[in-house]
Amino acid sequence: MLDKSDILKAKILIVDDESSNIMVLETALKQAKYTSVTSTTDPREVAFLYQELRPDIVLLDLRMPHFDGFEVIEQIKHIEGESYAPILVLTAESDPAIRLKALQVGARDFLSKPLDLSEVLCRIRNILEVHLLNKSLEAQKDFIEQRVHQRTIDLRQANQQLKKEIAERKRSEEELQKVNQQLLHAEKLSALGQLAASIAHEFNNPLMGIRNTLEQVQRGTHLEDSLAELVELSINESNRVMNLALQLKDFYRPSSGTRHPLNLHHAIDDMLMLKKNEFNKENIQVIKEYSNCLPDVSVVEDQIKQVILNLLQNANEACPRGGALTIRTRNLDSAVEVEIEDTGQGIQQEYMEKIFDPFFTTKGEVKGTGLGLSVSYGIIKRHGGDINVSSNKGKGSKFTITLPFKENGQDPT
Ligand SMILES: Nc1ncnc2c1ncn2[C@@H]1O[C@H](COP(=O)(O)OP(=O)(O)O)[C@@H](O)[C@H]1O
Ligand SMILES: [Mg+2]
Repeated sequence: MLDKSDILKAKILIVDDESSNIMVLETALKQAKYTSVTSTTDPREVAFLYQELRPDIVLLDLRMPHFDGFEVIEQIKHIEGESYAPILVLTAESDPAIRLKALQVGARDFLSKPLDLSEVLCRIRNILEVHLLNKSLEAQKDFIEQRVHQRTIDLRQANQQLKKEIAERKRSEEELQKVNQQLLHAEKLSALGQLAASIAHEFNNPLMGIRNTLEQVQRGTHLEDSLAELVELSINESNRVMNLALQLKDFYRPSSGTRHPLNLHHAIDDMLMLKKNEFNKENIQVIKEYSNCLPDVSVVEDQIKQVILNLLQNANEACPRGGALTIRTRNLDSAVEVEIEDTGQGIQQEYMEKIFDPFFTTKGEVKGTGLGLSVSYGIIKRHGGDINVSSNKGKGSKFTITLPFKENGQDPT
């Protein structure tokens, strides 16, 4: 609500060419305790004064030299635009047409001279009350509009944040689901491994029986040439299958965790043996460039064999249209190095940093587990060694393993 002091502080501008009129008005206003009164007898100054003061009311004479009151009203309107300050016209003009015109062009009220000062003061107070109330309403409206605007911005931001959080949550849920599926797949694989090992075990005994029988037949009976050849072939094939079964069993047997000296060439050959048929069938030529002075390394045998098999398997899968697989070994100063290089599809640059991550695969869920390289990495690191990759998209990849002679790695189990 408006305070009386607000009204008394209102800025009043008096425009009248007669300084005696101004004096009368100033005195009356002062007595009524108005504190901000400015006057001019020169209507040419009004524009400037108005700009400076921004008065809350203008007491305006109509008939003046240079500019009449109507022109002054136009000027004020020009400065203020729509909401110009209330103008109270005070004039000796008695023509009703002129009074009407003044009201039409924008005067708020009209009083005739000679003035009744108490009436003048009443009108001034009324006009100021309405004007100041309007002003304060405008200010409140602005304030509320600003708050609504700010609140809208806040809400929009909160909404965006919420949308972002929902999207992030959805992404995490999807990732979790993917990891769960992959874990399930990995568990299935491990169960399959155990199954393969027990099947291999079961196969071994009857195979041994078959081979012994065949050997007895070979020794005890004189056989026709063609039959002898067949028996010989059967014995060889039984040996081969037994060998395979043994390797399968060895491979999937849970790690013993103890290190023994291992001849890496033998280990690589064993694993190549497992892949021999596939390499033949898929036209992958194996080139061995073995060092002729490679010392044994002290490692957990089945773990290192697993790493080699993983790398051979990946090289195999990278060469769907055949290719060459080169295996090099080198004796470095205090370590041995094994390089497995293929002429397959190569690895995209953007994947190079991810291929050792668990569950990263580009092979789809059925074919790839994304575990081969991460498991291999863990095994080699636990042996105190290193595994590195270089690749050329479309040309092939090379994986290099180094294993130290001395047991400086942590316990690999
Ligand atoms: N020799 C290779 N040539 C091309 N890409 C390879 C090779 N070895 C590994 N990769 C890439 O690394 C990924 C991860 O390999 P790995 O951990 O063994 O999982 P998986 O073989 O199950 O996909 C593969 O999906 C493949 O994109
Ligand atoms: Mg793999």
